[in-house]
Amino acid sequence: MEKYNIGLIGLGTMGSNLARNIASKGFSVSVYNRTTEVMENFIKEFGNKNLKGFKTLENLINSLEIPRKIILMVKAGEVVDAVLDQLKPILEKGDIIIDCGNSNFKNTEKRYKNLAKEGLNFVGCGISGGEEGALNGPSLMPGGSRESWENIKEIFSAIAAKDFNGNACVTYIGDKSAGHYVKMVHNGIEYGVMQLIAEAYDLLRNIYKLNAKEISEIFKLFNDGPLSSYLFEISAKVLSQKDDKANGYVVDKILDRAAQKGTGKWTAIDALDRGMATPTIAEAVFARNISSNKQLREELSSIYKNHNFKPESKVEEFVEDLKHGLYAAMLSSYAQGFELIRHTSNENNWNIDLSEIARIWEGGCIIRAKILRTIHNALKRNNMHLFHIPEINKELNSTIPALRNIVAQGVKAETPLPGLSSALSYFDAITNNKLPANLIQSLRDYFGAHTYERTDREGSFHTDWN
Ligand code: 6PG
Repeated sequence: MEKYNIGLIGLGTMGSNLARNIASKGFSVSVYNRTTEVMENFIKEFGNKNLKGFKTLENLINSLEIPRKIILMVKAGEVVDAVLDQLKPILEKGDIIIDCGNSNFKNTEKRYKNLAKEGLNFVGCGISGGEEGALNGPSLMPGGSRESWENIKEIFSAIAAKDFNGNACVTYIGDKSAGHYVKMVHNGIEYGVMQLIAEAYDLLRNIYKLNAKEISEIFKLFNDGPLSSYLFEISAKVLSQKDDKANGYVVDKILDRAAQKGTGKWTAIDALDRGMATPTIAEAVFARNISSNKQLREELSSIYKNHNFKPESKVEEFVEDLKHGLYAAMLSSYAQGFELIRHTSNENNWNIDLSEIARIWEGGCIIRAKILRTIHNALKRNNMHLFHIPEINKELNSTIPALRNIVAQGVKAETPLPGLSSALSYFDAITNNKLPANLIQSLRDYFGAHTYERTDREGSFHTDWN
C-alpha cells in the first residue's frame, strides 16, 4: 500500500487549511476527524492525490510512512490528552506527534516526558497566522527533540511563510516545551501591540475627535513607514469598514468589551513567576479585564464626568509624535518579550537563538512587522537586551521623547494609556541607575526586619529603626 508522508487529526478551519497547505507543497497527507462527516465533506471539496481521508485512527496510522508524523490540530486542553491516549497504543517507538494547537507549555512539558517513556516523540509546535496563515504560510515554532525536527524539517520549511530574505519562517526553537513557550510569548507581545494600537486610536478620537475613517487614513500612512506591520494594516482596514446593519462604521457599533482565550495572561503570569518584567503585556491583559467590566464602567462614568481637554498641539504634530512614540513603545514591548524568552531559555538550557525568533516572526505571524527585521539584525550582531544594542539605542533616543509627549497629553486628556505608559515606564526604569527601591527596602526592614544591602559595604544589614 502506498504510504503517506504525514497525518493530520482535526479538520476545523485551521486543520483543514494546514492540510491543504501541506498537500499543495507536494506532500501526501492522511487526514482524520472525530466526526467522520466533517472529514468526508473536506475530502469531497478538497480531496486530491495528496489528500486522503480515513474513518479510523488505526487506518490513518497504518497509512503513514515510518517514522510516522502526525499533526494534532485539536482544541488545546483535555482534547489533546484524549487524542494522545487513543494514539499511544497504536503508535510505534520513534513515531512523532506534533501538537500545533495553542497548548500551555506546561502541559507540553508533561506530555513530552510521558510520551518519551513510551519511546514516542512529542513536538509542541507554535503556529501563528490564523486561518489565512495556515493555508498560505504560517510562522512555525517547533520544540521537542532535535531529532524530531530533522524528521519534520522538510515539510515544515515548505509550508511556512517567508521572512524578509525569502527564507522559511520556521526554525528549531529548542528542547521539550520551548516551541509552545515561544508561541505563548508571541501572543503576549500580540496583546501588547494590539493594546498600543487601540490606545493610539483612542487618543485620536478623544483629543482630536477624529472619526474611524480619518483614523484609518492615519494608520494607513503609519503602515507605509517604520510601523509597517500586519496589525497596523488590518487596523486601517477594520476602521474603514462600513457597517452593513446600520449607518456609519462597524467599529463604532462593536461593544467595547475585549475577550481573551488566555495566552496573554499565561505570559504575564509566567513573567511574574520568574521574577521578570513584562509590564506592557500584563497591562494589556488588565486592560481587557477592565473593558469586560462594562456595567461598573457605565455606572462610574456617570459620576466622574469627562472634563474638556484642549489639544496642546496641532493634529499633524500630534500624529507625527504618535508615529515615533508608537515605534518606541513597540520596541519596548518586543524587548520585554525577548528578555522573557532569553531568561527562560537560560533557565531551561534551551539555547534559543533570539535573532532566529525575530526572523521567523518577520512573516506569517500576527505580530509580523518591519521592526522585526531591525530586531533580527540587531540581535544577530549583539545578543543582549535590545536597549543595549547601538542601532536600537539610536532609534530609542530619537523616538522616546515623542512617546513621552503623547503619554503626557493623553494623561491630561483623561485617556487611559496602560500600554503606552507602561512601555515608557519600562524604558525609564530599566535605563535608570537610581530607582527608589532603597526606600522599599527600608520599609521592609522597618516593619519586618527583612534586612537590606548597602551601597558602601558587603553583607546584609538591619537597622533598629526605633
Ligand atoms: C496567532 C494568534 C492566535 C489566536 C490568539 C487569540 O498567532 O495566530 O495568536 O493564536 O488568534 O490566540 O488570542 P485571544 O483570543 O486570547 O485574543
